[in-house]
Amino acid sequence: MKVAIVPGDGIGREVVPVAEGVLRYIRPEWDYYPVEVGYGRWERCGAAIGAEEIRALSEADAILFGAVTTPPDPDYLSVLLQIRHDLDLYANVRPVRGPGVDLIIVRENTEGLYSGIEWSLPGSACTLRVVTERGSRRIARFAAGLVKGGHLTIGTKANVIKSDVLFRRCVIEEAEAAGVAWEEKYIDALCLDVLMHPARYGVIVTTNIFGDILSDAAGYLVGGLGMLPSANIGDKHAFFEPVHGSAPDIAGRGIANPVAAIRSAALLLAHFGYADEAVAVDAAVNAALAAGVRTPDLGGAASTVQVGEAVIGRIREWMS
Ligand code: NAD
Ligand code: IPM
Ligand code: MN
Repeated sequence: MKVAIVPGDGIGREVVPVAEGVLRYIRPEWDYYPVEVGYGRWERCGAAIGAEEIRALSEADAILFGAVTTPPDPDYLSVLLQIRHDLDLYANVRPVRGPGVDLIIVRENTEGLYSGIEWSLPGSACTLRVVTERGSRRIARFAAGLVKGGHLTIGTKANVIKSDVLFRRCVIEEAEAAGVAWEEKYIDALCLDVLMHPARYGVIVTTNIFGDILSDAAGYLVGGLGMLPSANIGDKHAFFEPVHGSAPDIAGRGIANPVAAIRSAALLLAHFGYADEAVAVDAAVNAALAAGVRTPDLGGAASTVQVGEAVIGRIREWMS
């Protein structure tokens, strides 16, 4: 296995080494290599990512990513969006797990309001929301494939946005073809209901930006953004990253919560068939948290590195 390690910016540089340490502890024989992308690279050489980095990422079996800083500058293209697009990572899978909560948000990851088709005019700016039948059907099949006995929830704004009428129809057709029960909710009501009644939900499928917003909001259920991992999956590539960003407000202080990044490493293990190891990593995280080894966002006083050490200590016990 070739694993590209991409810390990125801000706390990505603090949490990724911890998650990488967990992976290396479990699979020391894999080939790990660093790839530099992000704002730091942009400041240094005027581009957040180059052709060489894209090639290095596409040659990896798996990518472990941290976070990048993306300033609201019309000339700055998010490197993350470029990678998701170039590697065709169409399914953004965001599990939200904790006491009383076990749901997965499946976010379409290549189109919608993130089409990249946008332009500015004097006095106005336009972004084109693109929803295709191909894109909707493949994310629907992916999400339906994750439903185990329960039902699929479809989040749209099909009452007002015509592109969501297409999305809705494609998802319903694919769910029915897969023999998966479905329900639908408008995304605004869904955001609230997920927070009020999380146990009602299993797999939720939605379009790109709705999934972005819903997943951060769902962090409320499990202790915040520091807890949520994600997988970006395509037919050829697999990319694992925390849901959170580069958190410039706490970067450089050694207090970022590494749990989201460690759980992303667990998703990587599970994706490549190391199910027992993935379960062991998640269990080690939960045991460390239960023992009070927590960063300040969770009310504790542990550092990023201390949480990593506590998790590895428990994995060591599991392995011996
Ligand atoms: P953010 O997720 O970086 O931070 C939001 C809040 O959550 C901050 O108060 C931060 O301190 C806290 N937080 C996030 N992760 C945490 C962790 N692991 N431990 C403790 N606290 C944590 O979102 P933002 O502030 O809206 O964005 C900051 C920058 O990150 C922006 O440039 C944005 O574009 C970028 N961003 C990148 C990604 C990514 O690379 N995947 C995702 C989201 C935002
Ligand atoms: C995420 C982030 C990204 C997104 C940004 C940084 C491009 O918020 O991964 O959730 O909007 O998808
Ligand atoms: Mn987001």
